[in-house]
Amino acid sequence: MRAVVYDRYGPPKVLRIEEVERPVPADDELLVTIHATTVNRTDCGLRSAKPFMTRFITGIRRPKNRIPGMELAGEVEAVGAAVTEFKVGDHVFGVKGFGAHAEFVCIRESAPLAHKPAGMTFDEAAAVPDGASLALACFRTADLRTGQSILIYGASGSVGTAAVQLAKNLGADVTAVCNTKHVELVSSLGADEVVDYTREDFTKNGKTYDVIFDAVGMHSFRRSRRSLKPGGTFVETDLGFMWHVPLLLLLTRWIGDKRVKIGVTRYTKKDILFLKELIEAGKYRAVIDRRYPLEDVIEAHRYVETGQKTGNVVLTVR
Ligand SMILES: NC(=O)c1ccc[n+]([C@@H]2O[C@H](COP(=O)([O-])OP(=O)(O)OC[C@H]3O[C@@H](n4cnc5c(N)ncnc54)[C@H](OP(=O)(O)O)[C@@H]3O)[C@@H](O)[C@H]2O)c1
Repeated sequence: MRAVVYDRYGPPKVLRIEEVERPVPADDELLVTIHATTVNRTDCGLRSAKPFMTRFITGIRRPKNRIPGMELAGEVEAVGAAVTEFKVGDHVFGVKGFGAHAEFVCIRESAPLAHKPAGMTFDEAAAVPDGASLALACFRTADLRTGQSILIYGASGSVGTAAVQLAKNLGADVTAVCNTKHVELVSSLGADEVVDYTREDFTKNGKTYDVIFDAVGMHSFRRSRRSLKPGGTFVETDLGFMWHVPLLLLLTRWIGDKRVKIGVTRYTKKDILFLKELIEAGKYRAVIDRRYPLEDVIEAHRYVETGQKTGNVVLTVR
């Protein structure tokens, strides 16, 4: 089968297309023909091994798994003897730690995988799991509840576009912050208020929120803490400059009444099933910026690394 492979960490050009053996499913696995996958910020981080500590998971000297790619949508080609939830021909979507940038992948039945939402294309379904799973993890860690107010900074990215829709669905009052060119899109995702950061600094308008979610790792607790209500939480997706965010997390546990939290993605089948339900109820949609054929994976990585994508970037496999 055709697959993207890499044998060393580095810039996008370490990636190439190669013919490799098609995987064979174990008893508890499905073989999926991939129709669409994505390139996201995690794919770029794993490829470049930044931060360095990612190597403790992916291999210290070189990548343990040669085929990158996490999000996937496709058709079940074969099933192992113990598989009961899926059958050959089913359309599925989900996420796996590696191996999705290929024509086929084997994935456990118990993995974060579900039947593709009815009426959704493979491209759209592939673009659902990553951003939405991180947004859900951040809401849990911030204990976001119905009726609370949340400000989402960086509302136009993969995590941001997911967060706006998921916070609205939770019954929160959502203020989204983005660039002028994204105001219309972000409003269409359901934000109650949209602040254009090129025209207004939300930290200076006197409004306060229960939760401030920095969905793009570009804001800070220091700059936004006065916009938090007493007892409010600032939740971050990144470790921050010189990894100061974990330190703030510890300090704010003991000092002051405002907390700093970090969201860490945990992909679960429960979340994927929840997202499927939301999509089928018309309450969630994937935002796609660009589509690239698998062969143009280097270009796709270069674009994602600009930090300027709107929502998600899809790789079409077939
Ligand atoms: N904790 C975890 O487990 C985990 C896992 C994966 C990713 N992450 C982190 O999650 C964050 C979000 O990832 P993502 O894929 O959603 O990002 P993304 O899609 O690459 O975000 C790009 C969007 O952010 C906007 N943006 C860029 N700079 C901005 C700024 N200074 N202020 C406001 N908006 C800005 C861009 O629009 P404009 O520039 O036009 O405004 C663009 O639409 C990243 O920091 C990533 O490292 C964390």
